[in-house]
Amino acid sequence: MSNWVRAHTNIALIKYWGKENETLIIPKNNSLSLTLDAFYTDTKVTFDKHLTKDELILDGKEQDDSALSKVQRVLEEVRKMADLHLYARVESINHVPTAAGLASSASGLAALAGAASHAAGLDLSDKDLSKLARIGSGSASRSIFGGFAEWVKGHDHDSSYAVPVDDAQWDIGMLFIIVNDAVKEVSSRDGMKRTVETSPFYDGWLKSLDTDLKEIKIAISERDVEKVGRIAERNALKMHATTLGADPPFTYWTAESMTAMNAVRELRKQGYTAYFTMDAGPNVKIICRQSQLSDIKNKLSSMFKEGQLIEAKPGPGLHLID
Ligand code: ADP
Ligand code: DP6
Repeated sequence: MSNWVRAHTNIALIKYWGKENETLIIPKNNSLSLTLDAFYTDTKVTFDKHLTKDELILDGKEQDDSALSKVQRVLEEVRKMADLHLYARVESINHVPTAAGLASSASGLAALAGAASHAAGLDLSDKDLSKLARIGSGSASRSIFGGFAEWVKGHDHDSSYAVPVDDAQWDIGMLFIIVNDAVKEVSSRDGMKRTVETSPFYDGWLKSLDTDLKEIKIAISERDVEKVGRIAERNALKMHATTLGADPPFTYWTAESMTAMNAVRELRKQGYTAYFTMDAGPNVKIICRQSQLSDIKNKLSSMFKEGQLIEAKPGPGLHLID
């Protein structure tokens, strides 16, 4: 039994940045995200007795061992749960640039968790799917759910998973400014590890999180886009500040990211609800009202090319496709 499974990317408004346990991927802090309709991954898994090893074919190309190793963490767990002793062929198509700070690991590993468990004949709960996706990539735990989801950090494999917070069926959206979709130099995995181990700013980041998380949950319950954006922007800036204190220091920002951030500040001066967030890459995402997405896109069209600006609305959770 093997089917294509689709998972959408999610963008964190309260970032996950640092692991308590690197093997199990238990985070240092809770994080909260919005799943989006514009970017997603489709994956199919086939367990096959003729295979002599696991295979990962991403966008038609066989992948090297480093990409395969994340995937194998999930496959191993599925084989254990289903008492299955067969290798797997994983075919995946990213409708999102890979490794560019646009959360391909979130949609990719969440789709894999769904497809592998389905192919093995397991009928997992959302909670168990979230745990399974998490051991492939932390942020993937949140892509099991549509709308807003919170990854509760927990303390071991059984207690660390995401939960749905709100379906986001209200006037919130995100405009992506793609300044560069090339593969980044420092992966999120390496970047957060270096920051935890060496940045003196890391403790300050951790201390500030309870307030951000508490306030954003209130803002979401009040459907207050302005407040959600304000908290998300300050949270992202704090996360990126930690990387400057790392040894060796690094940043995901480029000159184009700064230009995009300034454009968002300018939009605010003009009265738009517009706040930015950024992940482990140079691209900038604007949190705004869904009803103002095309207006804001038009405003930015003199600075960025048509293909650089992508409108996104809240997206669905993991699901099977034909
Ligand atoms: P991103 O910002 O795109 O999430 P990361 O560096 O965090 O960047 O993760 C990118 C990595 O995630 C890839 O190098 C690959 O190992 C894995 N990945 C991305 N998409 C898929 C997919 N569809 N299936 C399996 N693994 C994937
Ligand atoms: C900046 O989930 O890609 O996007 O768990 O090591 O696979 P691993 O990392 P990953 O990190 C995402 C970091 C982030 C913030 C976030 O999505 O919360």
